[in-house]
Amino acid sequence: MLVFNKKELLRDEIEALKTPKSSVGFVPTMGALHQGHLSLLEKSVAENSITVISIFVNPTQFNNAEDLKKYPKTLEADLEKIKTVSENILVYAPTVDDIYEGNTVSEHFSFDGLEHKMEGKFRPGHFDGVGTVVKKLFEIVQPNHAYFGEKDFQQLQIVKKLVQKQNLPVNIVACPIYREANGLAMSSRNQRLSEEEKNKAGIIYKTLMQAKKMFGTKSAQEVSKWVTNQLKKQNTFELEYFEIASEDNLKTCKRKSKNKNYRAFIAVFVNKIRLIDTISLK
Ligand code: PAF
Repeated sequence: MLVFNKKELLRDEIEALKTPKSSVGFVPTMGALHQGHLSLLEKSVAENSITVISIFVNPTQFNNAEDLKKYPKTLEADLEKIKTVSENILVYAPTVDDIYEGNTVSEHFSFDGLEHKMEGKFRPGHFDGVGTVVKKLFEIVQPNHAYFGEKDFQQLQIVKKLVQKQNLPVNIVACPIYREANGLAMSSRNQRLSEEEKNKAGIIYKTLMQAKKMFGTKSAQEVSKWVTNQLKKQNTFELEYFEIASEDNLKTCKRKSKNKNYRAFIAVFVNKIRLIDTISLK
């Protein structure tokens, strides 16, 4: 398996492997890989002749220095996991300078309002950082297909908007959420939870499932109130937001419309570790 720290060397390798019929699949990650990431890699390997994964903890998308410092960095273990999918995957694990060339700042984007809700509201500048690094990574890897998990559904919609607005020649593939046996959505941040916290955090998905059931007969406001009360009962949890919004434009559901697909979104701190999850309400 080849691991590159420099974009020029990665590009040379991709160019050497390319044929007129080949396609490049790309899985951008921040490392601390779990089964969810590996499922994206498996899909890319099945659908493309060349697969590239990036492992880069992008500083510009963190609005909290402590969160960036504590983000798990497990490159050696990640490489072992990638090998279990295929030995032919190209790994791009750059330094901050290889990506930002001495200017570690975000470009400012307008994503037609998608960026102001939920994660954007509570993590100012986050989506400018995501847009900046994803655009840079797409320029380096030049993928035909790029694979993103639905756990970060708002990010997925924003990346689709970035591609559309900047006319980037890449197809964005949305992939389902992977969950632990108790329903906890797989996330790199779960590595920071104790076993007890992981077990308790299963409540987040159970609450979302119940919210989905309630949404069949109750209003979005009633469901939100119920979820807020449920989470208040958990003394080590702190709810940051719960939101029912339209899937396409992420606008808050004020009154249900039959023609819209809705989704519930949640962000919860479990002992200061921030977890997000989402569920389709269809
Ligand atoms: O979802 C992530 O891991 C990151 O936000 C991404 C897309 C790799 C950009 O840094």
